[in-house]
Amino acid sequence: PVLVVDYGAQYAQLIARRVREANVYSEIVPHTYTTEQLLAKNPAAIILSGGPSSVYSQGAPNVGADLFEAGIPVLGICYGFQAMAAALGGTVAETGQREYGATQVQILGESRSILASTGAEQTTWMSHGDAVHQAPEGFDVLATSAGAPVAAFANEEKCLFGVQWHPEVKHSEFGQQVLENFLFNGAKLEKNWTATSILDEQVELIRNQIGDARVLCGLSGGVDSAVAAALVQRAVGDQLTCVFVNHGLLRQDEAEQVERDFVAATGAKLYVANEQDRFLNALAGVSDPETKRKIIGREFIRAFEEAERAIMAEAALEGEEIKFLVQGTLYPDVVESGGGEGAANIKSHHNVGGLPEDLRFELVEPLRALFKDEVRAVGAELGLPAEIVGRQPFPGPGLGIRIVGEITGERLELLRKADAIARAELTAAGLDNDVWQMPVVLLADVRSVGVMGDGRTYGHPIVLRPVSSEDAMTADWSRLPYDLLAKISNRITNEVEGVNRVVLDVTSKPPGTIEWE
Ligand code: XMP
Repeated sequence: PVLVVDYGAQYAQLIARRVREANVYSEIVPHTYTTEQLLAKNPAAIILSGGPSSVYSQGAPNVGADLFEAGIPVLGICYGFQAMAAALGGTVAETGQREYGATQVQILGESRSILASTGAEQTTWMSHGDAVHQAPEGFDVLATSAGAPVAAFANEEKCLFGVQWHPEVKHSEFGQQVLENFLFNGAKLEKNWTATSILDEQVELIRNQIGDARVLCGLSGGVDSAVAAALVQRAVGDQLTCVFVNHGLLRQDEAEQVERDFVAATGAKLYVANEQDRFLNALAGVSDPETKRKIIGREFIRAFEEAERAIMAEAALEGEEIKFLVQGTLYPDVVESGGGEGAANIKSHHNVGGLPEDLRFELVEPLRALFKDEVRAVGAELGLPAEIVGRQPFPGPGLGIRIVGEITGERLELLRKADAIARAELTAAGLDNDVWQMPVVLLADVRSVGVMGDGRTYGHPIVLRPVSSEDAMTADWSRLPYDLLAKISNRITNEVEGVNRVVLDVTSKPPGTIEWE
C-alpha cells in the first residue's frame, strides 16, 4: 500500500481518498509508528500528512531520518514537508507571514518533477505559520510563495519530495496532478485499485471467512448495508439471508423500494419484519433525543433476534444459531475509532443498522477498507440500481430523530409528506449531487400563527437542512437556489396539513450537527 502517516487535523483521510481516486490502494497509519513499523507494512510509497503542530514545539511528532534512507519514495505535505526538511538538515522557522487559504505559488524555472504539467503560477490551498527557509542538501527547490521561501522541493535521486500546500484539497488548482506525479512518475506505481479489483478481492475474502456457514445481514435501506449484503450474496449466494426491520420511521416508499429494488438487483433472500407498532408503542411519550435513540436501538435488536428465530424455524433449524453477521462498517469508522492502531482522533461511531458489536455474531465487514465513494462504485459494479447506490445518507433511527418532540403516527405521516416533497423538488432541480444530504425536520413542539385564505392557522414549522460535506464530520449549509426553496416552501405549506411555515437551517457543522437530534 501507499501509507499515509497521519499527523492529525483530518487531512490524512482526504489524502488517502485522493490516492485511491488515482487507482492506487492507500492506508492510514498513526504518526506514532516507528520507521520499523512503517517498513513492516511493506509500503510502495509513503505520504506524510499535514498536521496542527509546529516542528519545533515541544512534543511535536517527528520523523526518523532513517525513514529517508530506506529507499522508499516519500512525499511530505505541509507539516510532513516541514518535518521532512527538519529531519534532513534543512531549516524551518516562522516567517511572520502566516498563509491560510488560497495562496499563489510561483514555480522556479520549468515546471518539473512532482510539479510537471502544472501552471507556472498556481493557486494552492495553504495553512501554515512555519515555513522551510532552506532545503536540505541534495534537494532542488521547485517553487516558492510569499510566505514560504521553499514551497516545494525534490530529491529525484532518492525519490523524496515535499510541498508546503495541500494538494489533497480541491481548492489547490493542480492538486491531483501533483499527487499523481508523485505516485506515477516519482514512485512509479501502477494503477490497480478499481471497483472490479476490490470486488474480486472481497468476494474471495468473504468466501474464506464464511465457508459454508449461514450468514445474516440487516438492511437499513442505506447504501452501505445494501452494498455489503450484495457483496456477500455474490460471494456465498443463498447462505445469506437479509433482514429488513421496518421500524416505521422510514421515509415515503422506502420500505417498498428496499423490498423491490434490492431483491431484484441481487436475488438475495429477504425477510421483512413489519414492526411499526412495536416501535411506536415503545416510543410513546418520549421526546428526549438520547432516550429515543436508545429505545430505537434496543427494540431494533429485539426485532432482529426475533427475525433470526423465525428464519431458523422456517428452515426447520430451530435452536440453531447463525454464526455470521454482515456489517457495513466503512474505513472512516475504522480510522476514527482508532483502527486498532491507536490513532489520535477517537470518536465513537454511529452503528448503521443499529446493531451493537457485542451481539454474539462473528462480524463480516466487507467494506472495512473502503471510503463511501468506493462503496458506491462497488455497488454499481454489483448491478445495484442508482436509487440505491446514489442514495443520501439516512440515519439508522430514521425520522425518529427528525421529529423534535414526541413521535406519533400522525406526525410521522406529516413529516413523510413534507420530506417527499422536498426530495422530489431537489431531484427535479437536478441538484441531488450538489448536496450531501437534506434532512427535513418537524418541530413538533413548536407552533406559530399563520394565515390561510381568511382563516388563522396555528401550525408547526418544517426545517430544511441541506448540507454539503465530504465525510459528514464537518459540513456547510448548501446555498440552494431561492426559486427551489420557494417552490419547496409553497408546496409543503399548501399540501401538508398542519404545517404553516418552512424555515432554512443556515448553520455549519460545527457548531451545529447535521441532524437536529
Ligand atoms: P450528525 O447529526 O452527527 O450526523 O452531524 C452525521 C451523519 O451521521 C448520520 N447519523 C446517523 N447515522 N445512525 C446512523 O446510521 C445514527 O444514529 C445517526 N445519527 C446521525 C447523519 O444523518 C449524518 O449523515
